[in-house]
Amino acid sequence: MRIVSIVGARPQFIKLAPLDRELREHHEHVIIHTGQHYDYEMSKAFFDQLDISEPDHNLEIGSGSHAWQTGQMLYKLGETLQNLKPHLVIVYGDTNSTLAGALAAVKLHIPSAHVEAGYRSHDISMPEEVNRVVTDRIVQLHFAPTRRAVQNLLNEGVETEQIFMVGNVMAESLLRHMDRIEKSKVLDEMNLEPGSYAMLTCHRPENTNDPARLRNIMTTLAETPFEVIFPAHPRTAAYLEESGLLGKLDGSSVRLLPPMKYIEFLKLQSQAACVITDSGGIQEEALVLGVPCITLRYNTERVETLDCGGNCLVGADPKLIREAIQALGSGAWTGSVPENWDTEVAARIVRAIDENRQLLRIEAQVF
Ligand code: UD1
Repeated sequence: MRIVSIVGARPQFIKLAPLDRELREHHEHVIIHTGQHYDYEMSKAFFDQLDISEPDHNLEIGSGSHAWQTGQMLYKLGETLQNLKPHLVIVYGDTNSTLAGALAAVKLHIPSAHVEAGYRSHDISMPEEVNRVVTDRIVQLHFAPTRRAVQNLLNEGVETEQIFMVGNVMAESLLRHMDRIEKSKVLDEMNLEPGSYAMLTCHRPENTNDPARLRNIMTTLAETPFEVIFPAHPRTAAYLEESGLLGKLDGSSVRLLPPMKYIEFLKLQSQAACVITDSGGIQEEALVLGVPCITLRYNTERVETLDCGGNCLVGADPKLIREAIQALGSGAWTGSVPENWDTEVAARIVRAIDENRQLLRIEAQVF
């Protein structure tokens, strides 16, 4: 079969890596990069380090408002898919590239599949939640990471035979690189002792675009008793500068850095006292690595990470952030990894595609 993967943003490259490896072996695999992320360290660095095939097409969309970005992607993806005539399109995660990919496919009556289907924060003000809900409504195959994700899809009326509880492809990427992560010398290079620092990421619009929330988070973390390593998303770095917070971090506990490569970031994450983040995927990685996670959000679509005690929600509330940091080491953190978060996720996905070709068609709608 000719199978097209559509990716565009950093977390999607990580999810694509195990799928590319598996799909290349069994099918003709074509990669379309929308160009949503374009800086070297947000994009190419991941293709190089994770040994992902060069994208066959780069649409070079770049940044803009969500409407502009998604619209441009839809237009250019439509043209590209029309020429490629694939049997199946695969989209990943919850970004604007995910939504545009699924929409472009369904409008051309090309069957599509969603990797990481069924996660729900039930907060429709998040752009990612809109992307998840709409994508799952229009794809034919749903590859769910957890049982709760399966249940969310069933609750929304997706047919049982269209849902496959394959596990978490982000976890597979991590587990497959464990050897390289263990061998990384990044702690020595950065003069860090295991367990002596926290890792921070912060890029959600609800935190970065609200000056009060960004200030609450940064000023609270600037006073922690340990060092906070902060590889900042380019947009976050721009907001820190704009809001005058950059100067306040000078000489504080926060060490601001450019975005890091995958292996080095995971090595630092694995040896950290805790991870403080508003990312989705990092909550999962922390769980797999057995590192406590403090999430700078008031809700999460990764509910399993809360259930098993590996994660807590603190939003942008200084008191809650401080309390969560103080609770570290109290023994309350007993994370366990959900079922099927292993190195066979991509293989399960490809097997499900091969064994369910009858589902790869779009029924005509009768109005
Ligand atoms: C996107 C995803 C988010 C994901 C995140 C991972 C959507 C709606 N959001 O958010 O779910 O967690 O990626 O990083 O798709 N920029 C650069 N260089 C780059 C890319 C972006 O400087 O290589 C800056 C630009 O100023 C741009 C801004 O980041 O305006 C926003 O980028 P965009 O790709 O639209 O969304 P993210 O915030 O990265």
